[in-house]
Amino acid sequence: MATSTGLQIGTVPLEQPFSDQKPGTSGLRKSTRTFEIPHYLESFIEATLRVVPGVAGGTLVVGGDGRYGNRRAIDVIVRMAAAHGIARVITCTGGILSTPAASLLIRSSGAIGGIILSASHNPGGPDGDFGVKVNGANGGPAPEAITEAIHASTLTLKGYRIAEAPDGWALALDRIGSTELGPLTVEVIDGTAGYITLMQQLFDFGAIAELLRGDFAMAFDAMHAVSGPYAQALFEGLLGAPAGTVRHGVPSEDFGGGHPDPNMTYAHELAELLLQGDAYAFGAACDGDADRNMILGRHCFVNPSDSLAVLTANATLAPGYAQGLAGVARSMPTSAAVDVVAKELGIACFETPTGWKFFGNLLDAGRITLCGEESFGTGSDHIREKDGLWAVLFWLQILAKRRCSVAEIMAEHWSHFGRHYYSRHDYEAIASEAAHGLYDRMKGMLSALNGQSFAGRTIAMADDFAYTDPIDGSTTTGQGLRLLLDDGSRVVLRLSGTGTQGATLRVYLESYVPPGGDLNQDPQAALGDLIEAIDTLAEIKARTGMDRPTVIT
Ligand code: G1P
Ligand code: ZN
Repeated sequence: MATSTGLQIGTVPLEQPFSDQKPGTSGLRKSTRTFEIPHYLESFIEATLRVVPGVAGGTLVVGGDGRYGNRRAIDVIVRMAAAHGIARVITCTGGILSTPAASLLIRSSGAIGGIILSASHNPGGPDGDFGVKVNGANGGPAPEAITEAIHASTLTLKGYRIAEAPDGWALALDRIGSTELGPLTVEVIDGTAGYITLMQQLFDFGAIAELLRGDFAMAFDAMHAVSGPYAQALFEGLLGAPAGTVRHGVPSEDFGGGHPDPNMTYAHELAELLLQGDAYAFGAACDGDADRNMILGRHCFVNPSDSLAVLTANATLAPGYAQGLAGVARSMPTSAAVDVVAKELGIACFETPTGWKFFGNLLDAGRITLCGEESFGTGSDHIREKDGLWAVLFWLQILAKRRCSVAEIMAEHWSHFGRHYYSRHDYEAIASEAAHGLYDRMKGMLSALNGQSFAGRTIAMADDFAYTDPIDGSTTTGQGLRLLLDDGSRVVLRLSGTGTQGATLRVYLESYVPPGGDLNQDPQAALGDLIEAIDTLAEIKARTGMDRPTVIT
């Protein structure tokens, strides 16, 4: 069919629908090879454009973390957007757009939503992973009702609509400007400018620049991923940190062959610089799409749950939060460190299921200002995604005002609020059957566990976490098995919703020591009895065949 503007739009039939396009914790995430199966990407985009409201005549934001497959996906999405009557697609030079900047752009452009191309912290490249995440008009991950409708649509699709690019037409993705494709306008903009302006409104750049000009040395690791251009403009540009402060700052299609996950295992180069060397006072890293962050001080690792608690306790030091906080939220597996701070501040603290989408309603309703997850995700109501560089700037803001070391901030925090020893043990790529066998067995045992002894304590409550959204009343069940002990410690088991190979079992361990107690233990040692007890109870080693976790955070 030709439109009045001469654009050829065709329907490509699907021999049969794809049965595996169910979005997980954070969108549809699969191996790059899967996304290269003919019509695979197109099927998911077709379902998305059928389900998301406001497509005809609407604006759509499209961009990604620059991984292999990003450019091809943008070309496909642009042509499918044209076929579905979208009026305007906004993307960025090179198609590179961090997840937080995408959230902001959706909000500031009046878009109906966005399609973010990223598998976050999973490796990229032809042998790595790719992902498609759908965000709504509020800039946040689409709520469950939408992702479920998209999945349902993929199960019955008979074909998809796509425009054929006229001869000689190519999307000029590498320069700022606009291109027409029939009735669709594609705008290519600078993906960093709006984001940087917002950061300048939230934080006192003068104070941070002064800190960085002094004898305060900082190292930032962009992990060859999307945070590089933003970090260079912010730290080495506006804030005047010396050249070289940003390491691995040029995004590459396979993240330099690495695993762009900012934790002690995958960002070990940075971790060694800070934990073993003396040259740097502050270190930070972001993941593939720049929504995660890791914070380090000299000889000091800041656990992400603690980071949320410290930001909450010190929030009013940042101009953007000087008025105080409406409330805070954390995902269920995140430690209760922030709960203790919220209690003292007299503000509400919500416990939500894993995944940023569950913070959306609370943020939109103005019930919370800050929120976070133990998985190196921290954010606020400035956008509707977690935001890695925002967290780094927030820490710099606190350090600029308090003029002490990261280790001193942590020590003071714990001596005032007590310390939540915390660790997550991940068993990755377990055979699916073994993982589900282990999990289902534990689930079946829950009610019998109440009142039983465990690691020298008593199990006060064992349940499978369920959540009712206080804003829209929707209920989400099956979010993780919790063993809550009588001394406030707990162990949680969950199966990952973002892995692409086999199954990943996450074991979350937490134990609280009040002020005055022993606040200087090694977390693995402090949690040793819980680690042993859960292994025995859940038969982790025996059933996974692994004698230790793949990753400990
Ligand atoms: C993981 C994290 C979760 C985070 C998600 C997306 O999901 O645990 O907190 O929201 O990645 O970054 P999981 O693999 O555990 O389902
Ligand atoms: Zn991410």
